[in-house]
Amino acid sequence: MAKITVNEHTFEVPDDKRLVLAIEDNGIQILHRCGGYARCTTCRVKFVEGEPELMTRAEKTRLQQDPANLFGKIRLSCQILCDHDMTVEPVMTLQNTDVSDPGKRPEDQVTPTPEYVSRYG
Ligand code: FES
Repeated sequence: MAKITVNEHTFEVPDDKRLVLAIEDNGIQILHRCGGYARCTTCRVKFVEGEPELMTRAEKTRLQQDPANLFGKIRLSCQILCDHDMTVEPVMTLQNTDVSDPGKRPEDQVTPTPEYVSRYG
């Protein structure tokens, strides 16, 4: 179990749970407009502590190619498993955007099938 802290609220989460689902299942209406496929970036979070050293290739490619140059600024919570303690701040929620729903619920496993690479270089 990992301790995940979001907006000063801490909850315990199984190691194999996607961060986006851990956040949502603990009452925070984080967006996930592409359904957890590293396409939309609406599941973005800022890391306060515990940013993973590894990232999926899908996340890295999406952030590096983003016109707003998101690489190094945020992480995609749909691409991260809760395998260690983390403190994060969700950026886009139902409350602070004008969309009517958060998006289709992401599958339980990371999609697309993850290939992990270093977040450096
Ligand atoms: S990038 Fe769309 S839900 Fe994560």
